[in-house]
Amino acid sequence: MTENAEESIRVMIVDDIAETRENIRKLLQFEADIEVVGAARTGEEAIQMARETRPDVVLMDINMPDMDGITATEALLEDIPWAQVVMLSVQNDADYMRRAMLAGARDFIAKPPSGDELISTIRLVSVRAREQREKLSAPMQQMIVQGPGGATAPLRPEGKLLTVYSAKGGVGCTTLATNLAIGLNTDNTPTVLVDTNLQFGDVSVFLNLQVKYSIVDLAARAEELDDEVIEEVLMTHESGIRVLAAPPRPEMAEEVRAEQVRRVLEELKHRFAYVVVDTGSTMDDVALAALDLSDLLITVATPDIPSIKDARLLFDLLAVLEFPMERLFFVLNKMDRRSGITAEAVSENLKRPVEGEIPADERVVAASINRGVPLLMGDKGRPPAKHILDLIGSIKQRLVTKAEMEAVEDGRPRLFGRG
Ligand SMILES: Nc1ncnc2c1ncn2[C@@H]1O[C@H](COP(=O)(O)OP(=O)(O)OP(=O)(O)O)[C@@H](O)[C@H]1O
Ligand SMILES: [Mg+2]
Repeated sequence: MTENAEESIRVMIVDDIAETRENIRKLLQFEADIEVVGAARTGEEAIQMARETRPDVVLMDINMPDMDGITATEALLEDIPWAQVVMLSVQNDADYMRRAMLAGARDFIAKPPSGDELISTIRLVSVRAREQREKLSAPMQQMIVQGPGGATAPLRPEGKLLTVYSAKGGVGCTTLATNLAIGLNTDNTPTVLVDTNLQFGDVSVFLNLQVKYSIVDLAARAEELDDEVIEEVLMTHESGIRVLAAPPRPEMAEEVRAEQVRRVLEELKHRFAYVVVDTGSTMDDVALAALDLSDLLITVATPDIPSIKDARLLFDLLAVLEFPMERLFFVLNKMDRRSGITAEAVSENLKRPVEGEIPADERVVAASINRGVPLLMGDKGRPPAKHILDLIGSIKQRLVTKAEMEAVEDGRPRLFGRG
């Protein structure tokens, strides 16, 4: 019942073709830490078998005659929520992948898989399976040890992860993310800024930093991250924040997998009070990984019709993904009275509150970016900086409220409980 590092990784294979099932089994048979606990021929059988064998990792064929792999994944995860589903497919189709990700799949491997890729992927995602399983069983264990209503065990404080995202490019995500990180960083609340815009990230430019190591270097060691490696790869900005840069060249983005980014972010959450994530505009599996770990998703839009349209599409997508709406924090940037579009109008149109506004100031913002000196390192009393500081105040407030609400929901003692 307690953590057991020696426990082997329980793998289930799902494929309608016997030969494929057998080949995969053979590829895995000599791995001491991997145990194939079952092989199912259909989606239906997979769901049934998963209930009995309780796998950590499911290797799921996408195309099967009765029930496709995506539908099977969705159903299987309802029963075994910690299972990590890796899709196997001959098609490398973006739409398939997106649907698979939406259904809860963790990773994607092209068929036929190589032994190395299969094994390393299984090991990588199994870490998450184990963590989730422990998390799910923790409340139960607590009940057993303490009895219901017993005193709470001290919880290890974990940092807050804030993702800054917009479906539309150029709206000011990087401007906000860099200043947010600087504003949140104190001696007591060390903050790291992560650039997950893997192809065209420009956080290092905004902060005038020379990239020596980047997220590529941590991703490569995602399974064995320790303080030393992390310390070496993170840059230190003169403001005091730590920075994990995007790869120095776009083609290097291919070296980084979403599952690795997830591991990196998880590790950073253990080490920093705040992890601020700047993203690209595509809702790809890297963005989904960041989203999944986010305590707050700060979505940015500008007061113009295309941007508001994209914000609406994003909110719709988040609803489909069942992203908890209380984690959403909606900011309008580049507000300009002359545009005639007010925050109230946007809020009315999108049917959700606007939680922050930053005025447009082309000259000041452009100068800050071009000089590589963030707004919050200049005069903080001036308009855009001042508004960002206010925004940080609201964000902190929101995180505190959220933590209190969660504490109440979890049944942990409240600050002002009845005793
Ligand atoms: N409040 C503001 N007032 C005026 N201009 C702004 C403001 N905020 C950002 N900008 C300008 O908008 C442009 C885009 O900003 P930024 O790079 O932060 O956006 P982004 O959403 O990260 O873009 P990308 O899609 O390239 O990642 C920059 O040229 C910046 O000067
Ligand atoms: Mg950007």
